[in-house]
Amino acid sequence: MPTMTKAKRIGMRPPEHAEVIPVLDFGSQYAQLICRRVREAGAFSLLVAPDTSIEELSAMNPKGLILSGSPASVTDPDAPRCDPRIFELDIPILGICYGMQLACHLLGANVTESKAREYGRAKLHINDASGFLRNIPEATAVWMSHGDQVQGLSEHFITLAATPTCPYAAVRHKTKPFFGVQFHPEVTHTPHGIDILRNFLYEICGCTDTWRMADFMEEQITRIRETVGSDRVICGLSGGVDSSVVAALLHNAIGDQLTCIFVDNGLLRKNERELVESTFRDHFAIDLRVIDASEQFLNDLKGVTDPQLKRTKIGHRFIDVFKETANSLSLEGEGGGVGEKPSASQEFRFLAQGTLYPDVIESGHGHAGMAANIKAHHNVGGLPEQLGFELIEPLRELFKDEVRKLGSVLGLPESILWRHPFPGPGLAVRVLGDITKPKLDLLRDCDEILLEEIIANNLYRSTDQVFAVLLPVQAVGVMGDGRSYESVVAVRAVETQDFMTADWARIPYDVLATVSNRIINEVRGVNRVVYDISSKPPATIEWE
Ligand code: XMP
Repeated sequence: MPTMTKAKRIGMRPPEHAEVIPVLDFGSQYAQLICRRVREAGAFSLLVAPDTSIEELSAMNPKGLILSGSPASVTDPDAPRCDPRIFELDIPILGICYGMQLACHLLGANVTESKAREYGRAKLHINDASGFLRNIPEATAVWMSHGDQVQGLSEHFITLAATPTCPYAAVRHKTKPFFGVQFHPEVTHTPHGIDILRNFLYEICGCTDTWRMADFMEEQITRIRETVGSDRVICGLSGGVDSSVVAALLHNAIGDQLTCIFVDNGLLRKNERELVESTFRDHFAIDLRVIDASEQFLNDLKGVTDPQLKRTKIGHRFIDVFKETANSLSLEGEGGGVGEKPSASQEFRFLAQGTLYPDVIESGHGHAGMAANIKAHHNVGGLPEQLGFELIEPLRELFKDEVRKLGSVLGLPESILWRHPFPGPGLAVRVLGDITKPKLDLLRDCDEILLEEIIANNLYRSTDQVFAVLLPVQAVGVMGDGRSYESVVAVRAVETQDFMTADWARIPYDVLATVSNRIINEVRGVNRVVYDISSKPPATIEWE
């Protein structure tokens, strides 16, 4: 039996010789997005806790430092702070939104609650286009999201840009290498945001564009080998890109110390189990075990309607199945019988998961402990307290498109890299309300038709996730000459880069018409199909 340890995670650390830009995480939903933009721009970046010591920061030998935004107010005594000695490190520092306010506050400026809360697009006018704002148009759009703002700068600062309601939208310190922006350069709604970040890296910090995804892969492989030693690892494989990338990465690192487990939880799409098994066996020489635990999962979910509770129950059951399987595999490897204790090297000490950054942040598990809990993703917030494994989550700091890049470096086939994601809780979060086998079967049939039409109309690659949802609603219809009173199915199709924000896909009407006709005609029990036209935010991609 695996030892009962609390979850311990390994995350990113700077690759040796990398140009590193740590981001102090004050709790903004966008904090990791800053890291990712920096990595995209060719320097290595990772999130660190706001109270990381000066010694730890110095040990990373950073080329610069970024202070993230935060939902907190600088004027609140409980707001997250950093060590003011960061300004003595003599490296360039960029403060974004709250990060700017905090730095300006620490450097003697006056920050107060703004009369006009600014949320959304604003027009930036630049009055100093050298260095930090080089080659940015004099008038450009920026994305604002703040309540407080800097009201009075001391004589130590210079204003670089302003918006009509924010006189200090971009500033720099006269003698220290500090720059601050009140807007968010990391979001795509700031069209020149990436150029501003590049200016910070290349004009101010002196970076030289050296970081690549292959470095991340090498660093993770070394890290996994060091962590795992001669122990064994179980990897929960779902067949999606995240867990496939984790499996490939681990297999590269530790070979046959890895065993992958595919759990049939009874919440899968039609033919999913067979498809995953065959795709996986065709491409990897990894030990794969398929476990049918559908009865246990469906029993756990009987009568459960609350989405968070569904996720928690599913998260717990997954762990139980992993533990039971690890236990029997340990004994199998030992050649032992029931009741015999396996030797240490046969035990599965680690569980590897394909957890991504959006799962972490949306479960409210950021560094600053301030991010809102939007959904307890089954593999983060849905995990039991006493896990029984140490966790290996090498993708925990990455976004989906970065994972695809990593998968490509690892040589994964396109069919896996470009599979639409399917959530671990599966159809449980797409059958709204209580879950029964007939409802799941009905939804499986609808989903199959929908995906067939999406693929047939060449829309699979231009959309990022497409699925059907069974609503807990009955509607009146007329079929033949009779009245019907049957279920409503929603179709959801989204376009997104990182699954943190998404827009509904403009699927051609003709395709929607075919999908609707086919579902209503071919699936018994459905008399109405609706199309979901909500973006994220304010909606989420899944309905639960
Ligand atoms: P939402 O619904 O939060 O989804 O906008 C963002 C992405 O995450 C997937 N998702 C999950 N994946 N466990 C997972 O493995 C979960 O609990 C979970 N909840 C949502 C969702 O399908 C989308 O791709």
